[in-house]
Amino acid sequence: MSFLFTLKRHFQRRLPRPLQRKLQQTIYVVLYRLSPARHQNFFNSGYAPVSEWLKTCPPFDREPLQATLYDRVLDGWADASGASPRSILDIGCGLGGGMRVAAHRFPGSSIVGLDVNATAAQVARRRLRELDGARVEIGNALSQPFEDGRFDLVFSVGAAGYVGLKPFMKEATRVLAPGGVLSFSTGYTDAGFEEHRLMVQAEAGKLGLELVEVTDITANVFAAIDADVPRRRALIDRVPWPFRGYALAWADMPGSMRYQEYVDGRRLDYLVVCRKPEA
Ligand SMILES: C[S@@+](CC[C@H](N)C(=O)[O-])C[C@H]1O[C@@H](n2cnc3c(N)ncnc32)[C@H](O)[C@@H]1O
Repeated sequence: MSFLFTLKRHFQRRLPRPLQRKLQQTIYVVLYRLSPARHQNFFNSGYAPVSEWLKTCPPFDREPLQATLYDRVLDGWADASGASPRSILDIGCGLGGGMRVAAHRFPGSSIVGLDVNATAAQVARRRLRELDGARVEIGNALSQPFEDGRFDLVFSVGAAGYVGLKPFMKEATRVLAPGGVLSFSTGYTDAGFEEHRLMVQAEAGKLGLELVEVTDITANVFAAIDADVPRRRALIDRVPWPFRGYALAWADMPGSMRYQEYVDGRRLDYLVVCRKPEA
């Protein structure tokens, strides 16, 4: 494993939680500002098999696996509701790729992205300038700058794990309109699927949500990571040497700690879809 990555993990574990989060956010600033991956539209592990329509639809055709994870999360709306959502929120929107996928699937809706990372928000704003009805806000998933009940659809890929499942669901539920849908993907190594399913079920119950779906997608995510190795390797080859090992670890490449967690069956990824009852 990379010396820098090991050092960071060693150091990070000893920090109090708020400082751990600050460090993680600083790493994202570097990734979004300086790494060769900053030209991507997505920062997620992906989902296989790829959705057919994304294979030929620019810019998703360059990162179809990553766009498919969003596509899969957005299926949550159709699974739980009928008409098109008018107002949509992407929590932890990163560089805005998921907002683009949502704009394709729900044309005419107003889409807001929220990310705690100001660099990500700035880049996403620039890239989504031409997208009517899209806006990006800088803010924390745990204290969102939105009024109660503002969004018909709240979705998220890969952000819940940074803030904790329960507080994530609580604040997402607050901004969800009655009849609205919360759909997100997340990943953990602390427990198995059944334990997590029960935890999500209990939390949804506490928040008054109807649980529509909790689906184990670990195999799909791992298949995507494997299929994406050549693309990631090409990006990592452009990372300056002292940081290359770190990039290999961060990108879940074969030989990395995360990759091994998948091989050993210690990593879990899943999707959650909940519906807020009509008032
Ligand atoms: C794994 S990346 C996923 C980015 C994007 N969803 C995608 O799939 O391309 C996680 C994102 O969550 C954001 N994030 C982490 N903690 C957050 C918080 N407390 N509030 C809002 N966003 C947060 C990070 O800045 C980062 O952009």
